Amino acid sequence: MILVTGGAGFIGGNFVLDWLAGTDEPVINVDKLTYAGNLDTLASLKDDARHIFVRADIGDKAVIGELLAKYQPRAVINFAAESHVDRSISGPGEFIQTNVVGTFNLLESVRGYWADLATEAKAAFRFLHVSTDEVYGSLASDDPAFTETKTYEPNSPYSASKAASDHLVRAWHHTYGLPVLTTNCSNNYGPYHFPEKLIPLVILNALAGKALPIYGDGQQIRDWLYVKDHCSAIRRVLEAGVVGETYNVGGWNEKPNLDVVHTICQILDKRQPRRDGKAYAEQITYVTDRPGHDKRYAIDASKLERELGWKPAETFETGIAKTVDWYLERQDWVQNVTSGAYQNWIEQQYA
Ligand code: NAD
Ligand code: DAU
Repeated sequence: MILVTGGAGFIGGNFVLDWLAGTDEPVINVDKLTYAGNLDTLASLKDDARHIFVRADIGDKAVIGELLAKYQPRAVINFAAESHVDRSISGPGEFIQTNVVGTFNLLESVRGYWADLATEAKAAFRFLHVSTDEVYGSLASDDPAFTETKTYEPNSPYSASKAASDHLVRAWHHTYGLPVLTTNCSNNYGPYHFPEKLIPLVILNALAGKALPIYGDGQQIRDWLYVKDHCSAIRRVLEAGVVGETYNVGGWNEKPNLDVVHTICQILDKRQPRRDGKAYAEQITYVTDRPGHDKRYAIDASKLERELGWKPAETFETGIAKTVDWYLERQDWVQNVTSGAYQNWIEQQYA
C-alpha cells in the first residue's frame, strides 16, 4: 500500500489513475480538497476498493498519524501543495501554510511512523517529495539547462515555499535518516489540468470566444512535459531512486509561451473551426505581465535517463494534440470545475 497526498489535484489525480491502471497495490489518497482538488477526476474509482480517499490536511498530524498507523504504507508520495504562481502573488499566506508548515508537519508524522517500523520495512520505506524546477530560478537565453546541482534561487512566493519544503525534506534525511527522494519537474500539461494554468485556460477561452491572455511579450520560455510522463518518472524514482538523491524531470521541450498558444490555436482551427471561419489566434490579447515573471526554465533530465533509464513517451506535438482532444471530449469535467470559485478567480485576475 502507498499513501499519496494531493491525489485529487492535477498531477496527483493522474498519478492515482495511472497507478491503479498498472497495479493492484492500493492507494490511500489524502487531499484537503481546496479549490484545486476535484473528486470528479477520480470518478472512475468510486467503487474501487483499491482507492481509499480521505479528506484531510497534510498538516494535521493527528489524522495523518492515525492513517499511517492504520494502513502501514510502504511509501508516501507528497503531491499536496498550493501550486499556482499568480495566486501566490495575490495571497502568499496559504503557500507558506501548506507548502512549508504542512510539509514540515507531514515529515514529522512520517518520521514518527517510520521510526517505529520493523527493520526490514524501515529500510524499504520511502518518502517521495514532488517538487518543481522553479526552485532553481530563472535562466538567461544562453544559460545551460538546470542540473540537480544548480543553486536554488526561487523568485516567487510559490517557488520560495517549494524551495523551503525541498530543504526540509533534505534535512529530515540528513539529520534523522528518513529515506527520502525528491523530484524537480518542469511544467506539466494534460488531462484534468485546472484551467487557471496557461494551457487549459487558453483551450477553454478559445472555445468560449474569449481573449487568450498573454503576459508581457509572451517570450517567456517554459519546458513542457506531458503529465503522464511525469507520473511514469515518479514511479521509476520510487522504484529505483537512490535515497537522499534528487532527480530532475523534464521533456526537453522548451517553448516560448506565444508559440504554445499559437500551437493550441492551430490544433483547434482543425479540430473545431470557429463558426465565423476566422483563426483562433485572433483572440490573442497581450495583458499586464506577471510581477517578477521568470524568463526561462529548462530542465536537464539526463541524470534520470542515465541512472534510472527513464525517458518521456510523448513529444510536445503528440502530447498537446492529446490534451486538446481531451478537453474537447470531456466537457462534463470542464463544466464541473469552472463554476463558483473559479469564476471569482478569473474575474479578479483578468479584470
Ligand atoms: P494542483 O494545485 O492541481 O493540486 C494540488 C492538490 O493538493 C489539490 O488536490 C489540493 O486540494 C491539494 N492540497 C492543497 N493543500 C493541501 C493540504 N494542505 N493538505 C492536503 N491536500 C492539499 O497541483 P499540481 O499541479 O497537481 O501539482 C502537484 C505537485 O507537483 C505540487 O507539489 C507542485 O508544486 C508540483 N509540480 C507541479 C507542476 C505543474 O506543472 N503543475 C510541475 C512541477 C511540480
Ligand atoms: O515549472 C513548473 C511549474 O509550472 C509548477 O511548479 C507550477 O505549479 C505550475 O503552475 C507551472 O508554473 P507556471 O507559472 O510556469 O505555469 P502557468 O501555467 O501559470 O504559466 C505558464 C506561463 O504562461 C508563464 O510564463 C506565465 C504565462 N501565462 C500564464 C497564464 C495563466 C500567460 O501568459 N497568461 C496566462 O493567463
